[in-house]
This record gives sequence, C-alpha cells and structure tokens, in this order.
Amino acid sequence: QTVVVLFGGRSSEHSISSATAGGVLRALDRDRYDVIPVGITRAGAFVLEDDDPEKFPLDAERLPEVVDNGTRVQWPEPGGIRTLRVTRADGTVDDLGAIDVVLPLLHGPHGEDGTLQGYFDTLEVPYAGGGVLDSALCMDKHFMKVALQAAGIAVAPWVTVRARRWAADPEAVRAEVAALGLPLFVKPARAGSSVGVSKVTDPAEFDEAMRIAFAEDDKVLVETGVVGREIEVAILEGEAAPRASVPGEIVLTTRGFYDFEGKYLGGDGVDVVCPAALEDAEIAAIQEAGIRAFEAVDGRGLARVDMFLTADGTLVVNELNTMPGFTPISMFPKCWIASGLSYRDLITELIEAGLR
Ligand code: DAL
Ligand code: MG
Repeated sequence: QTVVVLFGGRSSEHSISSATAGGVLRALDRDRYDVIPVGITRAGAFVLEDDDPEKFPLDAERLPEVVDNGTRVQWPEPGGIRTLRVTRADGTVDDLGAIDVVLPLLHGPHGEDGTLQGYFDTLEVPYAGGGVLDSALCMDKHFMKVALQAAGIAVAPWVTVRARRWAADPEAVRAEVAALGLPLFVKPARAGSSVGVSKVTDPAEFDEAMRIAFAEDDKVLVETGVVGREIEVAILEGEAAPRASVPGEIVLTTRGFYDFEGKYLGGDGVDVVCPAALEDAEIAAIQEAGIRAFEAVDGRGLARVDMFLTADGTLVVNELNTMPGFTPISMFPKCWIASGLSYRDLITELIEAGLR
C-alpha cells in the first residue's frame, strides 16, 4: 500500500512538522508500505519531497523546513483515477501511481484545524488522524474549552479577547482579567508548540504578552495559571474504542513554563518524563479523563490530552492536540513506547486506522 507522508505547512509550526516527518520517514515500516513524501511550503505549495529522513533532523541550530523545489503535486479527483501526479520544474508531468492513504503530520492552522481534512474529504482521499470537526474544535482553544466544559470536564478559568476589543478598550480587558489572578497564561487561540504564549507573573507584563499573542492570531485567550503537575496522556483510536497510554509528565525545574525553547531547542530546565511517577488510582483517573476529553471533542484517530493534576487530586484539562508532536523525542510516541507500542507500530496503527 502507498502512503503519502504530508508535512511542513503554512503555520508557525512548519519546522516541527518537518522534524516529525523526519522521524516518521525513518521509522515507517518499509516492508509494508510504499512512501511518497509530500511537503507543504510555508507559502502553501504542495511539493514532491525527497524520501530522505536525514533531510529533516530535529536540529536545534537549524530547524528543518520544506523548500520550494519547483515541483507541484496534484491530488486525485473524486471518482477519478486514484493516482498522484507531479508536475516537475521543467513542466513534465509524472504519474506517481495509486495512493491509498495520506498521513498528515501537520501542526497548527491549515493542517491540524480541519481545513485540510475537509479538502481531502471533498477529494475523497482517505487520511489518518483527526477529522474535520475534532481538528477544528481543538485548534481553537476557546471552543475546545467550551466543549470540554459542556462535557463536565474541569478547565482553567479564562477570558477570550478579540483584537478589536483589545484595541478599543484595553482598560476593560485589564479589569476583566484581573479577576483571573496571577500568574496568567496569554495564548493565541489558534496556534501550537507554545508559539506566541507568555506567562504573566506581574500585571506590568500583560500588555507585552497580549502584543506577542496577537501577532499570531486576532483571538487571544487569557487563562489562570493552574498550580499542579503537568500530565500528558496519549490517546489512540483504531478499530477498537479509544485507549489511553501510560501518562507522562512535563517536569519543570528551572524553566518558567514548557515553552518552544524547552520543547524543541534543547532549552534546559525541563524534562519530558514517561511514565510519570503516579499511583495506580491516579493513572486510572488520568486515562479515564483523557478518553472522556477525547470523546467530548468527537476525537478521531489520535490525540494527546494535556492536563494538570492539582494537589487535591483534581484533573484540569489544558488542551487536546489532534496531531501532537511526533518527533522521536516527543511525548506522544514516548508514552506509547512506555505502554509497549514501538514508534514503528504506532505509525502502522495510525495508517491502518486511516485506511478503514
Ligand atoms: N503542537 C505541538 C506539536 C504539540 O502539541 O505537540
Ligand atoms: Mg497545543
């Protein structure tokens, strides 16, 4: 069977997606699948990529990216011949053969937000991972929280602020968020990998945090910083009901929060640990909360559910990621490896779910 590995993309997480693809291209079961790597440039062009995992290493000095090589990939049309075509830079057109499924390894808007999923639904191209609704819901931190809250799941108190309102009446916004206490987290509604996120420990830092978040999105969430352990659990849904991995933990030592640098650039002061040191009852509660959150957003295929475990044992769900970081150092594969599923078998399971 032929799998299109799709990565890069127009969002600010372009490089993380490319690093994920490097790991996946290396680990994918080549005896079982033929692979066609397709990159999406930052400008949004679909290009035929080299099938060379070494081209996309997670290198903190120089994060990998998809460069426009002049090729253009054409997706099959509904009801037509199910083959992928590529127009080369010199204008010649090659038929790359029939494709069975796309594995979209995209993070952020235009990839993890349901738009691409809707595109493939329209083209009748099968794909792995989240569908239109869960992807769209989870890409928007405001509506994700609304859906979780409606399902009776605890979330951090928050205020959503549009750019228009912030520009018109910042004083009213400052007054409203004062009720949330300190510290605060200021986040773009639709982004990931902590891009545009700031931790505010002093009201004097608030305006700058808003400026940084609004640079990513015209909708921003201001949230109460929850005090508790940062726990993440990986969910997989194949033919069977969704199941949860062993939970992992983000352990902050000297870093203020789990920011982009701590996630991908080797920044110190944070450890990604799996399995987390937890009692059996805590593990069971976390797994149950993870699956409940997954079902609350109509999850499909996979997700990583991030939550806080507070001192009194409450689980506060921070967010779900429908295409979590998948680099070899990322929490999602780590949790499955700790649960007895290898990186290779995890990818196989995802692809097989997309084929059904
Ligand atoms: N958005 C990043 C990739 C994550 O959730 O892991
Ligand atoms: Mg996220």
